[in-house]
Amino acid sequence: MPSPEVHEHDVLVIGAGGAGLRAAIEASAAGVSVGLVCKSLLGKAHTVMAEGGMAASMGNVDDRDNWKVHFADTMRGGQYLNNWRMAELHAKEAPDRVRELEAWGAVFDRTKDGKILQRNFGGHRYPRLAHVGDRTGLEMIRTLQDHGIHQGFKVYMEHTITKLFVDAGRIAGAFGYDRERGFLRLFKAKAVVLATGGVGRAFKITSNSWEYTGDGHALAYDAGADLMDMEFVQFHPTGMVWPPSVKGILVTEGVRGEGGVLRNKDGKRFMFDEIPENYKAQTADTEEEGWKYTQGDKSSRRPPELLTRDHVARKIMKEVREGRGSPHGGVFLDIAWIKSRVPGGAEHIKKKLPSMYHQFKQLADIDITEVPMEVGPTTHYIMGGIRVDGDTQMSTVPGLFAAGECAAGLHGANRLGGNSLSDLLVFGKRAGEFAAKFAKERSQVSIDATQVDAAERAALAPFERGTSSGDAEGPYKIQYELQDVMQHNVGIVRNEADMQKAVEAIQTLKARAGKVGAIGNREYNPGWHTALDLGNMLACSEAIAVSALARKESRGGHFREDFPDKDASFGSFNHVVRKGPGGRPELRRETIPPLRGDLKQVIEENK
Ligand code: FUM
Repeated sequence: MPSPEVHEHDVLVIGAGGAGLRAAIEASAAGVSVGLVCKSLLGKAHTVMAEGGMAASMGNVDDRDNWKVHFADTMRGGQYLNNWRMAELHAKEAPDRVRELEAWGAVFDRTKDGKILQRNFGGHRYPRLAHVGDRTGLEMIRTLQDHGIHQGFKVYMEHTITKLFVDAGRIAGAFGYDRERGFLRLFKAKAVVLATGGVGRAFKITSNSWEYTGDGHALAYDAGADLMDMEFVQFHPTGMVWPPSVKGILVTEGVRGEGGVLRNKDGKRFMFDEIPENYKAQTADTEEEGWKYTQGDKSSRRPPELLTRDHVARKIMKEVREGRGSPHGGVFLDIAWIKSRVPGGAEHIKKKLPSMYHQFKQLADIDITEVPMEVGPTTHYIMGGIRVDGDTQMSTVPGLFAAGECAAGLHGANRLGGNSLSDLLVFGKRAGEFAAKFAKERSQVSIDATQVDAAERAALAPFERGTSSGDAEGPYKIQYELQDVMQHNVGIVRNEADMQKAVEAIQTLKARAGKVGAIGNREYNPGWHTALDLGNMLACSEAIAVSALARKESRGGHFREDFPDKDASFGSFNHVVRKGPGGRPELRRETIPPLRGDLKQVIEENK
């Protein structure tokens, strides 16, 4: 066995998107030694796919906005399965986190009087998304990176973590390898923060790039932590559908926030057809009223394109399934129509949505200022994740923290667009702060050598199998089949029979993945990397399917055609999954603590 290079930190942050960077900054500021591990190059994170903005009730565009409205919107969007303490902290702290980002150098778009500009997004009552054109996530990462590199933490780029160590009932460190050369690494740490994002790569059509294989979810699950709400996967309504090579790439909700409308092949604005009861009072009756709303008319109501993502995605699916879709299996998203209504015409669109303009021009040879885009749902985000304490972000394993997409709670059954970027900042900061505090209060960790040996053997096992038998199966076909299973059987529209099939198929795929082989050596070997990622995708997929089967109702991102309605009896608990004997998920119901009286009143007042 080659021996791993040993690194020691008080706090190890795994994942370097918005949440990981923010956690590393905060922990460093607390004076502890911090290591930041990223699977990819620093700065390449799914955070950049939150393009349209970060939600914070600053009230710069509409002074009726405040934390209470934001809290109520987030709870309603999440269909009241949210961890309400997280929703409260998020709504209260997001404006400060945005201002802090600005102080660190983020260059936001401006109102005429020089304040940070905010735009409309689905489910947010007022224009709330602080933004930088349609590149907000990118600007956030750039700023955190620029600020972070001066804070003294050590960055381990292109490293994958394969195992967390628990010793004497608390976290003790992690095992991993350097993806370029295949060198093995042992990280000793008194506290670990997981900030690894989501699991979009378990689905066929996704906005997630190759890194998002549910690593943090699976590492925590394997270490004995609880996962929660795993049935809730968000299908963003608008991804590219054509050409095939770019299918799934995100088309920001900001397009609709700026006045873009959805039409079917007959040119009809089908979103006017079915407005959910709880949003009826806030939704425009006419196209003109909706347009006025997007242009800041406070007396009008939002267009139906700005209903929550779960609803919009299902409506698009319906149009396609019933034969009213666009030529390549989506619907039309038209921003070109606003040209005649805004000063500057096409230039206005290019200024507001520069990335969308270039994305379509370069990838699809389409000028979005002239013709509509073709779009359809894409797997974008998972609301479920590691169960954490709302204040500290610590999981059920002492010393193991989680923040951002890999943590559960804030978003409940459905996330509002733009709440992700503010989530990363608010809870990344909290995770860093409390991880540092935890580390300061604890003695050194020790990691049993047998645990390290076992982690090494597991990491290198695909090579043993690949070379010893010579005919071991490679990982790609298994991932491809898993994506098919998840997309078709546990996707936007679900039913009992399909999900049962998925659970069975995942068992077979798990057995095959356990025998998967890698050939060649450890340098630059994507087959080996994928062989190791497979276990994470499969563990998450199983937790998603099992939780979805058990939720016999439709709520938020989870829609069942065999139980199309919301069932109040499912509204008072979360599904929690823990790894049981034989690696199978054990599912239980966990009652949601009663909402605090003052917060109940806030929701009542904002109904
Ligand atoms: O559509 C978007 O710009 C995505 C934002 C988000 O997921 O929060």
